[in-house]
Amino acid sequence: MFEKRFRDRINLQQLEGLHRNPPVIEKREGRFVTIKGQKVLSFASNDYLGLGASHQLAAQVGKHFKAFGSSASSSRLVAGNYQTICRAEKTFADYFGYEDALFFSSGYQANLAILSTLFEKGDILIFDKHVHASCVKGITLSGAGLKGYRHNNLKHLEKRLEALNCKNRGVVTESLFSMDGDLLPIKPFGDLKKKHGFYGVVDEAHAFGVLGDKGRGIAKGVTDIALGTFGKALGLFGAFVLLPRGVKEYLMNFASPLIYTTSLPQAHALAAVAALELVEQADNARKIVKDVSESMGETLIREGFQVFGNAHIISVLMGDEKKAAQVSRDLLSLGILAFSARFPTVPLGKAILRLGMTALHREEDIKTFVNALKTVV
Ligand SMILES: Cc1ncc(COP(=O)(O)O)c(C=O)c1O
Repeated sequence: MFEKRFRDRINLQQLEGLHRNPPVIEKREGRFVTIKGQKVLSFASNDYLGLGASHQLAAQVGKHFKAFGSSASSSRLVAGNYQTICRAEKTFADYFGYEDALFFSSGYQANLAILSTLFEKGDILIFDKHVHASCVKGITLSGAGLKGYRHNNLKHLEKRLEALNCKNRGVVTESLFSMDGDLLPIKPFGDLKKKHGFYGVVDEAHAFGVLGDKGRGIAKGVTDIALGTFGKALGLFGAFVLLPRGVKEYLMNFASPLIYTTSLPQAHALAAVAALELVEQADNARKIVKDVSESMGETLIREGFQVFGNAHIISVLMGDEKKAAQVSRDLLSLGILAFSARFPTVPLGKAILRLGMTALHREEDIKTFVNALKTVV
């Protein structure tokens, strides 16, 4: 019974060009990965500053695990509330300019926790229709009334704010969108917040480390809460939420996804601080990311591709799901890994190739990619 349903769904997924079958990565070295014995140039990672491939960070992580052991062995709420973690959270709050911070095991878990806990029945949540799946899951579980607004369309957001005049309103968005690659118009967003008043939650997962002064992101001062992950520019895994004082206590008391899970180990907290120090020193890497991103965008446009994105995430429109999947497979046969994002990650009929540009990329990689793309589309 269940087996038939599972099989039928997978078959349908294949027929519609939506099947997911990620390649097995045998090895990673900088911007290259090995797949089926072939060395492949990757544009599919979020390692924007190259820290995920850094031996220096790996050595620090190893040192901390050796000194502090491998596990917190308990939930934060039982015996996992280590001083090392509390201090590391304070370091993150200070660096990014917020009152407090709270670590989570992943960004997905963090969005689920904050959105499902801080909002509830009787509140209204207004959200950009392209926010990440973890935000969608979090707001759905909250019980709040939900209203989407058109992607990055702040006129539409204002209409929603005018129409939904409830006291407890939250707005959920990203600062750099994970698939579209475009930026939240931050100043108009801040103006709307001042004019209409709402509780702002901005997911800065793809911006922190890369955008803003020393990678501090773009939403400070215009949002109440910001989310960052360690798994992208910081080169680790896990996440941090930056929040006002008092909200941490609330989450510690009421956020089920935090209360009932094992805390990240102490060594991880120290590793996160080590990663943050590297982020602070990474001006040169941030300049490279900017340069290769601009160059990739300009080259693709010059070659006639329809391209979106204003920073280091570049999306190349493919449209049809089967075409996107085929182009990705063909690129792989030419030694290039590029992720084809398809429904439900992006809207139906709007499949893309999603490129993550990093400080590990070189100018010659752009030529390699664009020439390959031209031969396969
Ligand atoms: C915008 C956004 N938020 C949150 C997440 C989840 O972060 P993590 O990978 O740490 O679970 C992602 C990751 O894909 C993301 O793109």
